[in-house]
Amino acid sequence: MIVGSAPGFPHGIIDPIEELGELAVSYGICLHVDLCLGGFVLPFARKLGYPIPPFDFTVQGVTSISADVHKYGLAPKGTSIVLYRNHDIRKVTTLY
Ligand SMILES: Cc1ncc(COP(=O)(O)O)c(C=O)c1O
Repeated sequence: MIVGSAPGFPHGIIDPIEELGELAVSYGICLHVDLCLGGFVLPFARKLGYPIPPFDFTVQGVTSISADVHKYGLAPKGTSIVLYRNHDIRKVTTLY
């Protein structure tokens, strides 16, 4: 599998998720996007007009996403979520 961050915590850099998605599809493997920090930041930053590149299930090849609700989701420390594109985790190339 491939893992990308949007963004990674230390540098705030959003990995090129669309390119990673193309790579994942071409190899028939999973792509997980770590949105632990960005999950509750990027959608709102985009709404504010910042040029946020595609980072979620709209990207072909993204099979799972994590978001920490304990960060800007205001939930208790330690709680987090993982979302999967499909019920069957092995369906790596199924789109939308
Ligand atoms: C992008 C990202 N992934 C994972 C983690 C790990 O989160 P936790 O502190 O809940 O272990 C962090 C923490 O800041 C993060 O920013």
